[in-house]
Amino acid sequence: MQPDDGLFTRQLPGDRFREQTDPVLQLENINVNFDGFQALTNLSLQIGVGELRCVIGPNGAGKTTLMDVITGKTRPQSGRAIYDQSIDLTTLDSIAIARQGIGRKFQKQTVFEALSVAENLELSMKGDKSVWASLRAKLSGEQQDRIDEVLQLLRLEGERARRAGLLSHGQKQFLEIGMLLVQEPHLLLLDEPAAGMTDAETEYTAELFRALSGRHSLMVVEHDMGFVETIADRVTVLHQGQVLAEGSLRDVQANEQVIEVYLGR
Ligand SMILES: Nc1ncnc2c1ncn2[C@@H]1O[C@H](COP(=O)(O)OP(=O)(O)OP(=O)(O)O)[C@@H](O)[C@H]1O
Ligand SMILES: [Mg+2]
Repeated sequence: MQPDDGLFTRQLPGDRFREQTDPVLQLENINVNFDGFQALTNLSLQIGVGELRCVIGPNGAGKTTLMDVITGKTRPQSGRAIYDQSIDLTTLDSIAIARQGIGRKFQKQTVFEALSVAENLELSMKGDKSVWASLRAKLSGEQQDRIDEVLQLLRLEGERARRAGLLSHGQKQFLEIGMLLVQEPHLLLLDEPAAGMTDAETEYTAELFRALSGRHSLMVVEHDMGFVETIADRVTVLHQGQVLAEGSLRDVQANEQVIEVYLGR
């Protein structure tokens, strides 16, 4: 089934191929050093508006660190991270970066287990208030519609009143993606989103990401190569904090060095 509802009606055909002219993110010579350990070395990378970029590479390659730099969690020793062709993210804190429209899903889960599915989405939508102030504040009709839309998109309509703690692992992952989507981010960073999902859930996540690209720009870190194959426009391979290869999945899969360090023979 194709995800197809109001969320996608603004997607323009061909949007995801505009990256050559219109970068949403330009990382330039990023260096990150943790007490003498060089986690990222002169890393440069561009992501186009509406592009779906997969970042792959062995454990410890620096994929999560890269997302930490983009979201202000880690400050690089040098380099720039230009967002929307004007803002250097390395000068902002994580709250300011989130306000710029950059949303991130972490490797570890962050839903409020004691709250309902709908309450989790509400909280995320009104993220600048305290929990209880948020839940008391009434949603506008438009906000309510957005929550309904996201619930439908994530196939959680039947679970809206359910405590998030009672959802399956995969449903919790979907809820987290929903918590990002209600904030209408321009750029979504997703760290191993399919980890621990069933095959059917992984397949739906792939469809979802394809559908979100164009309207959103996505950077997806994932080890599941089947998943990467289904979704990727372009793939960047990281190794020891550097870009080892970049191109279509077919190109990088044929790259001798990539085979050597990551894919195996
Ligand atoms: N805060 C930190 N302090 C010291 N070293 C760190 C810190 N964060 C990450 N590292 C090191 O930097 C390297 C890159 O880590 P990172 O988590 O970015 O890798 P990764 O590509 O996301 O790996 P994985 O696929 O296992 O998630 C690793 O060697 C890690 O031990
Ligand atoms: Mg990681």
